[in-house]
Amino acid sequence: MTQSYNEAISKAADYLKNNGMDQPEIGLILGSGLGELANEATDAVAIPYEDIPEFPVSTVEGHAGQLVYGSLGGKKVLAMQGRFHFYEGYSLKEVTFPVRVMKAMGVTSLVVTNAAGGVNESFTPGDLMIITDHINLTGANPLLGPNDNAQGPRFTDMSQAYDKAYQTLIEEAAQEQDIAIKKGVYMGLTGPTYETPAEVRMVRTLGGDAVGMSTVPEVIVARHAGLRVAGISCITNYAAGMQESLNHDEVVEVTTRVRESFKSLVKSVISKM
Ligand code: 6GU
Repeated sequence: MTQSYNEAISKAADYLKNNGMDQPEIGLILGSGLGELANEATDAVAIPYEDIPEFPVSTVEGHAGQLVYGSLGGKKVLAMQGRFHFYEGYSLKEVTFPVRVMKAMGVTSLVVTNAAGGVNESFTPGDLMIITDHINLTGANPLLGPNDNAQGPRFTDMSQAYDKAYQTLIEEAAQEQDIAIKKGVYMGLTGPTYETPAEVRMVRTLGGDAVGMSTVPEVIVARHAGLRVAGISCITNYAAGMQESLNHDEVVEVTTRVRESFKSLVKSVISKM
């Protein structure tokens, strides 16, 4: 099992390297509505997930479902335009497979982004948030099962999951561009339901500032693989109980509204990494 998983990783990584994605330095996972940033990469090569050997295939609307390689902020980036979610039925090994492939291709840092519900009362839809830490409330973990010591340690240190220096750098980039930025803890649940008002109170009581359905598995695997991680959430709505009702259209609408500042922030962050 471990052997064939590693073979699948090598196969995908070799394919990508042989198809123009030769020297990626920074991995970039673009969340719901935020994928457009990859279109800013220059000298770009794009490969749909379905063309990559061993890759899962994306199904969610609003996700282009391709890898984009190119120069962004003076760095060679490998961007996921659309990610795989646990709620779609993928295993966490599948959800995190692209992170393993990035590592195999030579990536040393990962920027994760997502759309998230605001739980902290001081947050407003449209806010961007530096992820300072996360709480894994999915009840699962991509590292469950036999550990491959060649990939990383059995017990992964999560005490600085989101790199401190990167957090500072995001703050500086935001300041320079006059982009308001919040900081907070991202709480990851499986979805696909949005939370009930009682669950939102629970999230708040437990220390979550924002809530979402992604990111946590990828960051766990990134840390296992020794990648440095930077995380940014786009707060797309108030979580349940704080507004009338919730729907995905709203998430897309708000990400569209903050798209330009999100793009220039992430580009500047990448240039400083
Ligand atoms: Cl309110 N909850 C979750 N779980 N994910 C979200 C969200 C809320 N808003 C955007 N993504």
